[in-house]
Amino acid sequence: MNQPATKAQIAPTMDAPAYVTHARLKAWVAEVAKMTKPDRIVWCDGSQEEYDRLCNEMVAAGTLIRLNQEKRPGCFLARSDPDDVARMEDRTFVCSKNKDDAGPNNNWMAPEEMKATMSKLYDGCMRGRTMYVIPFSMGPLGSHIAHIGVELTDSAYVVASMRIMTRIGSKVLDILGADGEFVPCLHSVGMPLEAGQKDIPWPSSKEHKFITHFPEEKLIWSYGSGYGGNALLGKKCFALRIASIMAKEQGWLAEHMLILGIQPPNGKKHYIAAAFPSACGKTNLAMLVPPKALEGWKVTTIGEDIAWIKPGPDGRLYAINPESGAFGVAPGTSVDTNANCLAALHKNTIFTNVAMTDDGDVWWEGLSKEAPKHLIDWTGKSWTPDSGRLAAHPNSRFTVHASQIPCMDDDWENPAGVPISAFLFGGRRTTTVPLVTEAKDWKHGVYLAATMASETTAAIVGKVGVVRRDPFAMLPFCGYHFGDYFTHWLNVGSKVKQAPKIFAVNWFRRDSNGKFMWPGFGDNMRVLKWVVERCEGKSGATETPIGNMPRYEDMEWNGMSSFSREAFDELTHVDHDAWRAEVKDHEELFGKLQSRLPAEMTAQRQALEKAL
Ligand code: OXD
Ligand code: MN
Repeated sequence: MNQPATKAQIAPTMDAPAYVTHARLKAWVAEVAKMTKPDRIVWCDGSQEEYDRLCNEMVAAGTLIRLNQEKRPGCFLARSDPDDVARMEDRTFVCSKNKDDAGPNNNWMAPEEMKATMSKLYDGCMRGRTMYVIPFSMGPLGSHIAHIGVELTDSAYVVASMRIMTRIGSKVLDILGADGEFVPCLHSVGMPLEAGQKDIPWPSSKEHKFITHFPEEKLIWSYGSGYGGNALLGKKCFALRIASIMAKEQGWLAEHMLILGIQPPNGKKHYIAAAFPSACGKTNLAMLVPPKALEGWKVTTIGEDIAWIKPGPDGRLYAINPESGAFGVAPGTSVDTNANCLAALHKNTIFTNVAMTDDGDVWWEGLSKEAPKHLIDWTGKSWTPDSGRLAAHPNSRFTVHASQIPCMDDDWENPAGVPISAFLFGGRRTTTVPLVTEAKDWKHGVYLAATMASETTAAIVGKVGVVRRDPFAMLPFCGYHFGDYFTHWLNVGSKVKQAPKIFAVNWFRRDSNGKFMWPGFGDNMRVLKWVVERCEGKSGATETPIGNMPRYEDMEWNGMSSFSREAFDELTHVDHDAWRAEVKDHEELFGKLQSRLPAEMTAQRQALEKAL
């Protein structure tokens, strides 16, 4: 066993603590320290004392505001720099040796060129600051599906957030031993403090932001931003971009998917993994509360953002949640939309860029029907309902440990993972795409996932509400050429003995008046029920050119009898003209991926065109 936190860590030196035996890790930390020149190095032990100490320091520095401790014990609010509020896709790079390996779905720069540029930025970038060493495990400690990373960062906010989102500290070094594999992740906010310079609550770099990945070395370098996926490098950078590359090389899947369990009344439990682009309700679906009328059906949560999936000895695919917390979008979260999540946020939560009430509580758009009469908005300014601006940033977030979520599945930390019965792929589509479609087989399912699209949201910097192709909801996260990624998915399906069924869903279709046609949220349980029953061969469907769909009589309407057959027909209508236009869009996507597109995708497209 490693020793517990020692005085040496509390009063840090530049040397690694004596219990660190991993020579490669020590050498890398020393090499980075030589380049970034921090004033001190702290090896994080992951303890509660360490977390409390860092939070106290951040309160003193103005980075965190302690919220009303009676209403929200252990909760804090952070306000970011107004220019550092979301993932930055245009500053995200995959620096493979060969440009083609990164594919047209990634920004690319030659690794030596990127390293030269960033080394200049990193030179002395931690001056005046502490460099924290965070050993972390993505996945339950010691699980054969889990992998280890080490993040070096000069942000205490990142340390505190990583302690919620992953398993960090000395216990991870125990598993790593003297020579274990780890993914090195380097992060700096990019704002050195010159002698006498006062720090600011949310340091970041105004001029330079880079989030970069080196696939051959399995290395991550991030500079200039302190926000979310740009800075918590275990999440999008490791668990998706680098892990997707490892998964291709090693024969598994690293996906932008929630994982939920469904327990039918007196029936067999099924696990479903579902991919949606950012801010399309993954957290809500993962924690769904079934409508009262579907008594006896129970939904439990394994994960709400990322799934790592490996083939098991029985020929099924087994999934773990590599994270241990949720970094979820706050606006829109309410008792009505996600009661489980809201219940989790009462204690020990870090909120970022939400609004604050006059009595030190939090608020965001959608939390209550009526806004409080007065708030401090996410930028720290006084706010009233007639201010004419949002009180919380649309990408404001909560960071909360999974153990606080009341609906977590008993097996959420099972190192063996849970067997997946079905994959769901969904986007935010106002038109064209029906409520639910079942793929005819695995290859057709890969086609449905490869051609999915969604309207963009505030989770990324850029234009909101634009339809873009987002294959497998992995457009910002696949660390290599999408053509190769489709091939990998085809291969996985042909290798496993019991491939899950694949479905496409769309909760967001609107009628000609612009009104949502489907209530969504808890009523999505009706779709999940049909999915489970299809997996068990218990429910019917009708064939359409785009796949199999439930007929009105195949769905459960108990408690929703006012939803008419006509409304359902409209919701599931396949408009052939609109679908011909879709296929043209698929063709355009495939054109961009042509050099590595598997022939099967073209064959599927041609078959769809013919069927229409
Ligand atoms: C997220 C995202 O934060 O997908 O999960 O942007
Ligand atoms: Mn996500």
